[in-house]
Amino acid sequence: MGFIKFVKEELQVIKERDPAIKTNMEVFLYPSFKAIISYRIAHKFYMKKHYFLARWISQRAVRKTGIEIHPGAKIGKGLFIDHGSGVIIGETAILGDNITLYQGVTLGGTGKESGKRHPTLKDNVMVSAGAKVIGSFTVGENSKIGAGSVVIHPVPPNSTVVGVPGRVVRRDDQKLPRNTMDQVHLPDPISYELCRLQSDNVRLKNKLKTMDDKLASMSEDIKRINHISLGNENNNYQNER
Ligand SMILES: CC(C)(COP(=O)(O)OP(=O)(O)OC[C@H]1O[C@@H](n2cnc3c(N)ncnc32)[C@H](O)[C@@H]1OP(=O)(O)O)[C@@H](O)C(=O)NCCC(=O)NCCS
Repeated sequence: MGFIKFVKEELQVIKERDPAIKTNMEVFLYPSFKAIISYRIAHKFYMKKHYFLARWISQRAVRKTGIEIHPGAKIGKGLFIDHGSGVIIGETAILGDNITLYQGVTLGGTGKESGKRHPTLKDNVMVSAGAKVIGSFTVGENSKIGAGSVVIHPVPPNSTVVGVPGRVVRRDDQKLPRNTMDQVHLPDPISYELCRLQSDNVRLKNKLKTMDDKLASMSEDIKRINHISLGNENNNYQNER
């Protein structure tokens, strides 16, 4: 593909997916634009087994954009990486057409697999800010991964996945019933522990207050007894005199 055609296509992609762009010239400032150009060149060298050169180009792009696309990754048309910083695309990742990635996305491996280690994203997948998709599985077409999710299992097409670990909350535009997969009311061990400590604290405070009250009333009683016995002693003394 010629450079002019590439720029036109990128411009179209960015205009479609980033409402923040105002003028055509801005396309040259997008980290996504720079990173994808570098990737396309690096990928050609990688395919010709010029691995060092390919990595050199991709690492240079990392320093300039904060986006690390391994030259071995296979990427279709219309990839858009919004903001960009912190995006990592692993060597054996396969991306279909019209994928959108936001900042902080990792398409990585679990560290336990060899060979194909990274995910495959089918056409029109969107991976939101900070999401981690790790492992060699497929995310079906038109699916969305929510911000901050950690996806470790295959995702069916037309689904929305959120949470850690990622679970499907919507499929074919239908919300999935909560009783089968409650994302929000998962047991939270930290808040459970805090609640337990809080109730212990209240119980101990009440116990301490009861003991304090008892001590106060006992010291009142002792004072009263002392007072009475002192009075008696005085009377006896006066009587003796
Ligand atoms: C996932 C997302 C794409 C919405 O997809 P959607 O298919 O329209 O899903 P919905 O908004 O109907 O949400 C479905 C459920 O998931 C929950 N949910 C949505 N996003 C979530 C997230 N990131 N984490 C946890 N839960 C989330 C919703 O609260 C909703 O729960 P409910 O059924 O109890 O109401 C969106 O929430 C998201 O994460 N966008 C981030 C985009 C981004 O990265 N922007 C950065 C720009 S700089």
